[in-house]
Amino acid sequence: MTLNVALIAHTFERAKTENGGLRTLGLRFYERLFEKYPGVRHLFTTPPEEQHKKLMASVGAIVASVTNPEVMLPYLRAMGIRHIAYKTESDHYGAVSENLVAVLAEHLSSEGEWTPEMKANWEEALQIISEVMIDAAEHPEQYQQELATSGYQPDGFRNAGAKHWELASA
Ligand code: HEM
Repeated sequence: MTLNVALIAHTFERAKTENGGLRTLGLRFYERLFEKYPGVRHLFTTPPEEQHKKLMASVGAIVASVTNPEVMLPYLRAMGIRHIAYKTESDHYGAVSENLVAVLAEHLSSEGEWTPEMKANWEEALQIISEVMIDAAEHPEQYQQELATSGYQPDGFRNAGAKHWELASA
């Protein structure tokens, strides 16, 4: 299927303003994740109150760079490699993706529509994001040059004080 990038961007814009905005969506994401997948809870040390802002900023950065693969791919690969340090396993990506689509569905259907096309596009986008992050986490050595030229350290982090989840400026 060809990704409908405009539909994904449009639904994320709606998520920012409907049903209490990204704060409601982000907090619900962690609430549902820990209810439905209690096995991943111990991986998270940052409280949801802080963590949800990073996740939502990251989804926003991905949506903003989706038509710009030379920006988006190094961003996703660095993030995949950082997730090695967070003890994330490849199998967890299905749970996180399912959870994000489920909470988006709840969020957007509270004030407007959530269609099968929206669902299919978000699922497809998360499948691609997951594949890129998992591939980088499994083969970090293949991406060392790209990390360096994109402003990341070998472990995918940036310099101390950087907000790693934001797009690195060129
Ligand atoms: C759609 C894919 C994912 C995205 C966009 C994403 C995004 C993020 C972001 C933005 C951070 C903040 C720190 C940083 O940027 O390095 C983070 C941290 C983290 N993520 Fe993910 N993530 C994804 C998948 C996963 C999966 C599958 C897991 C496994 C359960 C996971 C577990 C964690 C953990 C444990 C942390 C550190 C939390 C802490 O500081 O306590 N993430 N993630």
